[in-house]
Amino acid sequence: MVETSTLKITTVEKSALDTVDFNNLAFGKTFTDHMYVADYKDGKWQSHRIEPFKNFQVHPANIAWHYGQAIFEGMKATRHQDGTPMLFRPEMHSDRINKSAERLAMPHFPKESFMEAVTEIVRLEKEWIPKEEGSALYIRPYMIAMDEFIGVQISHTYKFIIFCCPVGPYYSKPLKLKADDQYIRAAVGGTGEAKAAGNYAGSLLPTQLAKKEGFDQIMWLDANERQYIQEVGTMNIFFVFGNTVVTPSTDGAILKGITRNSLVHILKDKGYNVEERPISIKEVMASAESGELTEVFGSGTAAVIAYVEGIGYKGAMAKLNLDTYKVAPMLKDTINGMRSGRLEDIHNWTVKVS
Ligand code: COI
Repeated sequence: MVETSTLKITTVEKSALDTVDFNNLAFGKTFTDHMYVADYKDGKWQSHRIEPFKNFQVHPANIAWHYGQAIFEGMKATRHQDGTPMLFRPEMHSDRINKSAERLAMPHFPKESFMEAVTEIVRLEKEWIPKEEGSALYIRPYMIAMDEFIGVQISHTYKFIIFCCPVGPYYSKPLKLKADDQYIRAAVGGTGEAKAAGNYAGSLLPTQLAKKEGFDQIMWLDANERQYIQEVGTMNIFFVFGNTVVTPSTDGAILKGITRNSLVHILKDKGYNVEERPISIKEVMASAESGELTEVFGSGTAAVIAYVEGIGYKGAMAKLNLDTYKVAPMLKDTINGMRSGRLEDIHNWTVKVS
């Protein structure tokens, strides 16, 4: 056992690393040897520890299970060409989970503890980071309420947990999206901007119905007018019109994606006009028809960049020509290149875990 000032580390006796087939990684099904856990009790975070990955006991009346007081993040560690593990914009993930915590009336998790936890677990699991560019160690920090009580109220106790999964790309093929005018994901004033577990629960039925119609994911429209595009299942969304790239402006109901933010910077670096503005489904369908809309792609930590080949809306289908895509491949190459050290990281987004 190793003890740092705040963190107690207990390691496994035998790693499971040699049981993993790194050439066939299904997203989120392979877990590394260790996990990080901290408990919130008596108004403070305590018992910070890294221990062997295992189940833990939860009381049947756990508040998170009943009322969904649960939030999470998704971030990635990659391997620099020289072998050093790297995190991508970890402080932004710490800030975002604390924003989510505020919305769900949960306690902040201190940035120093977040950085220490993520750094130490990646240091410990560095052999689990896939070598191939585009693959990564997906890191899942999350916080759940732990009170044992079925009255609807704010929990007094919480767990903060981090586990890791070696992953390849989330989507293995270009996507067909359904712009849904029946169901919504989030309304302004709700929890749409938070990475709240419940947001994803509400998306499951509409996505299942869309899949039955032959789509891969839902493209969510705004709650009031069912006109303005918000985001896609697990991603933010971008539309390319020649030299201009449009992404919906965040309005309180859209997740403030860290990959989204990074792409906006990269696009501006490369001389594209970037418009963060409301964009309607009618504009998208009409410009796909006229040929002005040249590319559509999603962005997210898990997905990185996912190409969109078609958008369905009210029975019509807009088709995109993947053969002429050049902005999305450029972005994918740039972000993956930065994360492997192949390309210069001019924004200092990568943080080496030495
Ligand atoms: C991520 O991109 O990290 C996400 O959180 C999406 C996840 C629901 C797979």
